[in-house]
Amino acid sequence: MSTPASRRTFLQRSALAGSGLLLPNAEAQPAPPNDTIKTIRSLRSTHGNFLDKPLPEPALETILQASLRAANASNSQSYSIIVIKDRPLMKAVCGYQGSCVLVYCADYTRLKLSAESLGYTYDPGTMEGFVTASTNTILAAQTAVIAARSLGIDSLLTNGIHRGDMERQWKLLDLPQTHCIPIIALVLGYSTDETAHLKGRLDGPGVIHREKYHALTKAETNEITRKYDDKQLDLGLNDDWAASGHKHYLDWYFKDWMGVGRKPAAQEGQMLRRLKRSGFVESPPA
Ligand SMILES: Cc1cc2nc3c(=O)[nH]c(=O)nc-3n(C[C@H](O)[C@H](O)[C@H](O)COP(=O)(O)O)c2cc1C
Repeated sequence: MSTPASRRTFLQRSALAGSGLLLPNAEAQPAPPNDTIKTIRSLRSTHGNFLDKPLPEPALETILQASLRAANASNSQSYSIIVIKDRPLMKAVCGYQGSCVLVYCADYTRLKLSAESLGYTYDPGTMEGFVTASTNTILAAQTAVIAARSLGIDSLLTNGIHRGDMERQWKLLDLPQTHCIPIIALVLGYSTDETAHLKGRLDGPGVIHREKYHALTKAETNEITRKYDDKQLDLGLNDDWAASGHKHYLDWYFKDWMGVGRKPAAQEGQMLRRLKRSGFVESPPA
């Protein structure tokens, strides 16, 4: 975890960047931040430490309505949002509890029913259909995050819904067996920790490419390793990587966090099994 000093320094850097004094790119001349940009720059995740306090209903309604404003392919809104206020259910679904949890599902059920009711057979069961619906779903979720922050409400996006036995979601939430998959859960609430801790972000080569994709050089790759090691930049999930015997943060990240080289190679993971069962994976022609 980051120390108060590194948090302070990062916040100072954020404030400088916000005021335009610390430019991420020498050519860039960012416009002065308006309220929307300030809200986006203040985004930070609350990692599970939410108060047991309800959200005002009007705020939740505003967040939901804002979420629906996100762009979506063909204005199809191929998603659905399940609002959970029952605390034990929140925990069972995503492993976290807040004031409420919104489960964002890629979902064609409604569209299929509309098609059927008009006499059409609509089959969005392709990987393209899945990617499009997932994109629509995630944009709606992130829009909710921004709306919540603008109202002073904290949040956590979590893929805890995919940890453990994913099939529990279909049982707990009565999800349709086909063409509906939970993509992300959004925990909304109020953090117990008042300190506004902003994590850093990697910038520059390898992240933003201009005009064409730029293949990283060895020196640029090493520079990225160095940036992750620089606690002032606060890019890491954990500040104690050196204490656990690692040369670089990324050693900790790949070895200890991602378990690279430790986990046996996955056969067919539960996500692929579920995508097949939900009808999103086309069978090869016989
Ligand atoms: C797809 C996704 C899954 C995540 N899952 C978790 C999670 O299960 N637990 C958690 O504490 N944070 C989770 N996060 C939050 C990230 O750790 C966090 O966004 C990242 O460390 C950057 O920090 P920030 O959001 O405070 O800037 C998730 C974020 C995303 C987008």
